[in-house]
Amino acid sequence: MAELKAGLQDVVVATSSICSIDGQRGKLVYSGYDIHDLAEHSTFEEVVYLLWNGRLPKRSELEDLQQQLTENRTISQEMIDLLKRLPPPQHAMEALRTAVSALSLYDPEAEDMSAAANRRKALRLTGQMGTLVAAFGRIREGKDPIPPVPKLDHAANFLYMLEGKVPHADDARWFDIALILHADHSYNASTFCARVTASTLSDMHSSVTSAIGALKGPLHGGDNEQAMRMLLEIREPDRVEDYVHQLLAQKKKVPAFGHRVYRTEDPRATVLRRMSEALCRRSGQTKWFEMSKKIEDLMIREKKINANVDLYSASAYYVLGIPVDLYPLVFAVSRISGWTAHILEQYANNKLIRPLAEYTGPADLKYVPIDQR
Ligand SMILES: CC(C)(COP(=O)(O)OP(=O)(O)OC[C@H]1O[C@@H](n2cnc3c(N)ncnc32)[C@H](O)[C@@H]1OP(=O)(O)O)[C@@H](O)C(=O)NCCC(=O)NCCS
Repeated sequence: MAELKAGLQDVVVATSSICSIDGQRGKLVYSGYDIHDLAEHSTFEEVVYLLWNGRLPKRSELEDLQQQLTENRTISQEMIDLLKRLPPPQHAMEALRTAVSALSLYDPEAEDMSAAANRRKALRLTGQMGTLVAAFGRIREGKDPIPPVPKLDHAANFLYMLEGKVPHADDARWFDIALILHADHSYNASTFCARVTASTLSDMHSSVTSAIGALKGPLHGGDNEQAMRMLLEIREPDRVEDYVHQLLAQKKKVPAFGHRVYRTEDPRATVLRRMSEALCRRSGQTKWFEMSKKIEDLMIREKKINANVDLYSASAYYVLGIPVDLYPLVFAVSRISGWTAHILEQYANNKLIRPLAEYTGPADLKYVPIDQR
């Protein structure tokens, strides 16, 4: 039997040309392009094209994709009614998981596994994810959902649908950058789930629903929400030391720190730190940035553990006015692009994903009839 690696740590399970991570050097690359370069020069829509096609688009190709995404943002009245009928979820991600699963019931191509139909479904899911999240966010507050606006790009349109006002251009651009940074991360847990489901040749909606289930967990996408809850609980920068020391003394994990792959700074955190500082300053709420920085300094100094993607996105989303329990859903608004890219790649060269387990249970037991046990 092959060597067992708990949590598949360091195990290479497949090839992929979508995304690479160098955990030693802190590099994240989408189809050959460094994440820092993309964050500075690109847009979310351009990154979606890159992830789906393995190359940057020409201008006309980007305009086509922008138009197609825009045309596919609207969700049906049936979906809005469904969101209205849901009982209040215990975790907001339950609503998104249910909604995405339900989308397939209204998608005439749900079971069409042709490459062209799967591309169209990727487009619809990516276009609609933000609309679903914003609609859910408003409906549960007793407000009407706001329809998407074609003239706004994906990032600005999401903030608009959530709050009902066109965001400041700086806020919209920073959020666009956050979407770029969250778009893909190689074989992370949710993407792996999506690929496992796709590898059975199950449909795209099922694969994405699997991914959402994995993203929900506090060790993955649920962590950005935990990071903000921690900041809210700490309340003031001068309480950081006591709070974090207490967590560490209780052997608890500090949200938004540590990573399975990075052994140095998560390159997304480098950009998000600047984003948090800029947005917290502009909104006059610098304490959230200051607290995050203090926690980071303490964790590096005392534990040598770096912040990950979730630390500075938490405070940035907070000052953008995004409700805290929606943070993991906002992750999905971006990551849907990566999930669908991976599902398409899986379908294009499929091999059923079916690993082994080392059995550690009892052996050679004799069956005992039920009334003799
Ligand atoms: C991300 C994460 C799940 C990686 O897990 P992993 O690769 O299995 O690593 P482990 O959980 O085994 O951690 C390795 C060591 O670092 C410590 N560590 C890791 N993350 C920590 C954190 N956030 N706070 C405090 N200690 C941490 C562990 O306690 C462990 O210490 P030990 O060897 O003395 O027992 C883990 O770092 C974590 O739980 N972080 C908090 C949640 C989070 O930020 N998730 C989002 C990831 S993008």
